Amino acid sequence: MSTPSRFAIAASIALAACASQPAVKGKAPAFGAPASPEEIARYDISVPRSGAGLPKGSGTAREGARVYEQKCQACHGAKGAGKPADALVGGLGTLASKTPLRTVGSYWPYATTLFDYVRRAMPLTAPLSLSDDEVYAVSAYLLYLNGVIAEDLAMNAQSLPQVKMPNRDGFVSDWPPRAHN
Ligand code: HEC
Repeated sequence: MSTPSRFAIAASIALAACASQPAVKGKAPAFGAPASPEEIARYDISVPRSGAGLPKGSGTAREGARVYEQKCQACHGAKGAGKPADALVGGLGTLASKTPLRTVGSYWPYATTLFDYVRRAMPLTAPLSLSDDEVYAVSAYLLYLNGVIAEDLAMNAQSLPQVKMPNRDGFVSDWPPRAHN
């Protein structure tokens, strides 16, 4: 008679343990607690390119300059010039060159994405810490520095989706996939 391996013994003990605790019918496993509508609302903040769901609030580039200097400049440089983190301004006309500079101004096709991204991810060390007014204002400032909007044009749920970014038409669909060389 062959000796059962240690693995087989361990497996049968595990199975026996499962069998002795049958799932309670009609009762969900007790993993965590149900999320409250308030908790869900705090994380359910995606804004698509159309701008649907943008919150109330408003801000101009003038107001945004202050937010930027206090909360962004240390990483993104004076007026978005970059260093140590990404440049946020400039690069227009460089995308097809050998040294493309992809910034919010030269590359991003929708201004609504700027609001969405900054609100959820920036400042890097304190995401979700800005008020909606501050996010609108600092977005306005970056759009202004990129020459996309005027300094006094308030950005809000109505105006932001109207902004036409320079590279709006620079993306093409690759579906169905074409042959690439
Ligand atoms: C502590 C450093 C730090 C601070 C402060 C900071 N950022 Fe950033 N930011 C980064 C880094 C690093 C990245 C790149 C993140 C990545 O690629 O995942 C980034 C990326 C970005 C991008 C995307 C750039 C691109 O073209 O991909 C934007 C826009 C941006 N930050 C805006 C802001 C704004 C606005 C503030 C102030 C409210 C801010 N950041 C504060 C470090 C910082």
